[in-house]
Amino acid sequence: MWSNAIAGSTATLAAIGTAYWCYLTFGPKAYAMTPAEEGLHPTQYPWEHVKLHKTFDHQALRRGFQVYREVCAACHSLNRIPYRTLVGTVLTVDEAKELAEENEYDTDPNDEGEIEKRPGKLSDYIPAPYKNDEAARAANQGALPPDLSLMVKARHGGCNYIFSLLTGYPEEPPAGAVVQEGLNFNPYFPGTGIAMARVLYDGLVEYEDGTPATSSQMAKDVVEFLNWSAEPEADERKKMGWKVLAATLALWGISVWVKRYKWSPVKTRKLVYNPPVSGGRKFG
Ligand code: HEC
Repeated sequence: MWSNAIAGSTATLAAIGTAYWCYLTFGPKAYAMTPAEEGLHPTQYPWEHVKLHKTFDHQALRRGFQVYREVCAACHSLNRIPYRTLVGTVLTVDEAKELAEENEYDTDPNDEGEIEKRPGKLSDYIPAPYKNDEAARAANQGALPPDLSLMVKARHGGCNYIFSLLTGYPEEPPAGAVVQEGLNFNPYFPGTGIAMARVLYDGLVEYEDGTPATSSQMAKDVVEFLNWSAEPEADERKKMGWKVLAATLALWGISVWVKRYKWSPVKTRKLVYNPPVSGGRKFG
């Protein structure tokens, strides 16, 4: 029958149309960059300080801060960190005060409206290496070294990414890779051409605790320090988390006990039906 043929064809067309619509709607995603351009995915490293029952290793924070100060601080600011937050976590009070006093800060205007200079104190923020972004760009061939305070949170891959980035500069770019003038090849950086050159070399700093300053050790320490600067509350947060878990677990236990206590008369109740035995009609 011709009407059967029409019905069959219409159904087929509708099915193909639906499938095509589904493909367009839920089909493969479009990416602006190829995976190569996105950058190499960093390796997952077993960070101790990230574990739920672990805290930052404060010796590592000290070492990491030293690496930041001696290496990264030449180009990168750490705008959100005042000296006072370093006290008790990274430095002692005296060390932090001494460090703050190394820099000069503006005073409030005096009676004549003059602004003078005073040595830094604990409430001051770690000064940036450049006066402003323009000066930073001018000193780095047009590239802006970003502020590192929140860098661990700001980049996909966090600690793993920054560690891979710092330790991932090959001796030479692989054959066939195009590296623009003034850029350095790093497979982990999106686009693979990064304005920051390799900065960590074995033995660059001398750790006070005698830890061998290999480039991977320094990268690990500075990344842990940057994780602290991005999440200074992390240790406290985990501790609070465990307290909340313990308290809710105890409350849950009590609530189970109370529930059983309250319901026990109902749950242990026995309902007995004794049919009347008067010689009437039998049911059932
Ligand atoms: C000589 C200056 C210089 C030094 C020293 C330096 N950097 Fe950089 N860094 C730069 C510049 C410039 C950029 C911007 C790169 C770009 O946009 O191509 C950058 C970018 C970065 C980025 C961001 C990458 C991204 O995904 O955008 C991180 C993270 C970083 N640096 C970490 C560090 C750490 C950690 C240190 C110290 C161990 C350090 N840098 C030392 C100049 C420097």
